[in-house]
Amino acid sequence: MKKHILTLSLLMSAVVLAACGDDEATTSGESNGDDVQEMTIKFSHVVAENTPKHQGALAMKEYIEKESDGAIEVEIYPNSSLFGDQDEYQNLVSNNVQFIAPDLSKFVGNNPQFNVPSLPFMFDNDEEAIKFWDGEKGQEILGSLEGDGVVGLSMWPNGGKHVTNNERPIDSPDDFEGLKFRTQGGQVLEAIYAALGAGSESIPFGELYTALDQGVVEGQENTFSNIESKKFDEVQKYMTVMNHTRVDYAIFTNTKFWESMNDATKEIVEAGIDEGTEVAREEAKSLNEKALELIRERGQVEIIELTPEQIEEFRTTLEPIYDEFEDEIGADVYEAAREAAK
Ligand code: LMR
Repeated sequence: MKKHILTLSLLMSAVVLAACGDDEATTSGESNGDDVQEMTIKFSHVVAENTPKHQGALAMKEYIEKESDGAIEVEIYPNSSLFGDQDEYQNLVSNNVQFIAPDLSKFVGNNPQFNVPSLPFMFDNDEEAIKFWDGEKGQEILGSLEGDGVVGLSMWPNGGKHVTNNERPIDSPDDFEGLKFRTQGGQVLEAIYAALGAGSESIPFGELYTALDQGVVEGQENTFSNIESKKFDEVQKYMTVMNHTRVDYAIFTNTKFWESMNDATKEIVEAGIDEGTEVAREEAKSLNEKALELIRERGQVEIIELTPEQIEEFRTTLEPIYDEFEDEIGADVYEAAREAAK
């Protein structure tokens, strides 16, 4: 039950706020003929500055402010400093923030197809994930929040996830037995840990360091850049390089805000998002590689690199998950993902 709480509460608050109306836009711009509208756009996210998401947001801000000659101001709020996992979506729905870039696996309560980044060993790298989300099925899924008044614009990758814990070195499925892991949420991640004989609980990202430090959970899975930039290695003893699931984002905006822009304004904002997409996609791999080097240098966690045989053992253990979720996620989605992963 507990594992569904974050997902459920995201969904319920969004529904409540959507029903309450959404006239609290922070933008001041009114459409004024052909001039670029003056406005302040807020972009909220939960991760640190030295991450692909923040670097993409910075590129977007720089482009939009420069090209609009300062008429549009973009305020970026990293580190859950404006909104966290619990409330960023409902605040997007009510237009208190104009852009968020959440981990897609946090939207499985709205649409189970957002479980794709959690399908075990589906994508080997960013390119394969990008190909899926840029394709027809991926775009359809990104568009599926339309009913909440939310537009899905563009996928930004972070990367493959790896498992940390403070109990024991993990190099085989049996090593998970009896441990409890924090996940981003969702049925597939929950099933992965259950298949490994472990428990799981979804905890907001902003509370994860403390949860690990206080032993609420023994471990978690994340990208190198999130582990390094949030210093999870300070409160974990072991890190297994698994690359079994992914963190991928999309830029989401509020439909009313999006439609309130005149052509001149929208052109700049759209080009700014393209700029951000390019930077996030270009930087993700190298930022994660650099983060792994920093984790190594700090020497706080023992790093376990798996052999191809050990990875195969995990792959085989987790394979039944595909059958378990085929009806919910869709054979067509599996097919599109497998095609992108070729
Ligand atoms: C997490 O909650 O672990 C990540 O999804 C955070 C993020 O946005 O990368």
